[in-house]
Amino acid sequence: MTRTELKTYYIRTFGCQMNERDSETVAGIFRARGMTEAPDMASADIIMINTCAVREKAEQKVYGLLGTLRELKENNPDVVLGICGCMPQQQEVAKRIKTRFPYMDIIIGTHNLNALNYYLEQVLQERRQVLEIWQERAEKELELPARRSGKYKAFVNINWGCNNFCTYCIVPYVRGREKSRPPETIIREIEALAREGFVEVTLLGQNVNSYGKDLPGKPDFADLLRMVNDIPGIERIRFMTSHPRDAGDRLFEAMATLPKVCNHLHLPLQAGNNRILERMNRGYTAEHYLRIVEKLRAAVPDIALTTDLIVGFPGETEAEFQDTLAMVEKVRFDSAFTFMFSPRRGTPAAKMKGQLDSEIKKERLQRLIKLQNQISLERNQQLVGTVQQVLVEERTGTINKGRTTSNKLVFFASGRDLSGHLVPVRITNAKTWSLEGELGD
Ligand code: SAM
Ligand code: SF4
Ligand code: F3S
Repeated sequence: MTRTELKTYYIRTFGCQMNERDSETVAGIFRARGMTEAPDMASADIIMINTCAVREKAEQKVYGLLGTLRELKENNPDVVLGICGCMPQQQEVAKRIKTRFPYMDIIIGTHNLNALNYYLEQVLQERRQVLEIWQERAEKELELPARRSGKYKAFVNINWGCNNFCTYCIVPYVRGREKSRPPETIIREIEALAREGFVEVTLLGQNVNSYGKDLPGKPDFADLLRMVNDIPGIERIRFMTSHPRDAGDRLFEAMATLPKVCNHLHLPLQAGNNRILERMNRGYTAEHYLRIVEKLRAAVPDIALTTDLIVGFPGETEAEFQDTLAMVEKVRFDSAFTFMFSPRRGTPAAKMKGQLDSEIKKERLQRLIKLQNQISLERNQQLVGTVQQVLVEERTGTINKGRTTSNKLVFFASGRDLSGHLVPVRITNAKTWSLEGELGD
């Protein structure tokens, strides 16, 4: 192969749904150039690593992977190596990557996917390394092609960036300020997805509830949900993430009345102690959070509630950690993503006094996971004997895999492939992370 004849690509994605969606754009750009997906990394003509910077562990995995790419480049100097996403968006990280891994051809951030074709040309024609990090999304967002990774469920961006500046979080620094996408473009994209056979969309934003504040006429997130609910062919609407401070009556009313909006809310609590919540700059108290949950459960009685929790925030005492355990017992989440606090360079929490030992963090995490697992199992057990509508995603052998409206994973056997269909399933068994059932009516 000569470099101008890139035929196959391989993309490795770390991090959240935003990154998964961005990787679909990268794949779309490559496919528009006539490329196809390589079966593995070693055989690809171009490799793109889409990175996450939210915790140190995520970054370490990427550094490890970049190290292994050296050998690939030595064996095949024509292979094009790229890195994008939240890690290089931090200037000092981009510089470190350039020095430590000089064989990387393309180093770009989160805002410049628009120009990926142009960077590729520079690498192919001029054989030079590209390092370019834009500080903001282009004013007029181009509607870039996307190669969707699923057939029935799709991610749709509704707003980018974050203005909240929680003191532990790198996201506002690497994803920029909040910027909403006009409703017309969102609706057009979802109508096109429906025509292609997609039945479920997940509306994506770091804080979906602040959708529209920066748009003419200020349409809000509940208005957007109504518009999406009216699109024929779409059967299910999900969204993430909601910030507790901005989740209120209008959202709950929309969730209660719009039939396509799923019975699931992901509402990150982060911590159960008010002093810690204040130091995190979350903008709510534990009592406020409990009131929100009460209102939500009154409006949508069978709602599934999931959350994110951080243990070991700087200065967190044992008693303060126990407030998190107490909140978990009070709210009884269906499931939770649980994290040890990871200091991120450039965020206020990384410089706070009282950084905790990793042993203390690990021990607290274990206790939290044990409690949450017990509650998750009990919440799932409540569904045994009920009939749930399941959207089937795939079938392996005779076993179909799908999800309930409450986003619980369900496995059940059937004589035919039901992928892409919404079917009734009687739940027969509950585990911590999934349910088992049989085709019902
Ligand atoms: N915008 C969403 C929100 O407000 O929850 C998602 C933010 S982040 C991508 C996902 C989760 O990672 C956060 O909810 C938080 O629990 C966790 N997280 C963020 N920064 C972290 C850090 N420095 N250490 C540990 N966990 C962190
Ligand atoms: Fe990070 Fe907080 Fe923004 Fe979520 S709301 S992305 S946790 S700064
Ligand atoms: Fe990670 Fe960036 Fe998402 S830091 S969690 S990939 S927004």
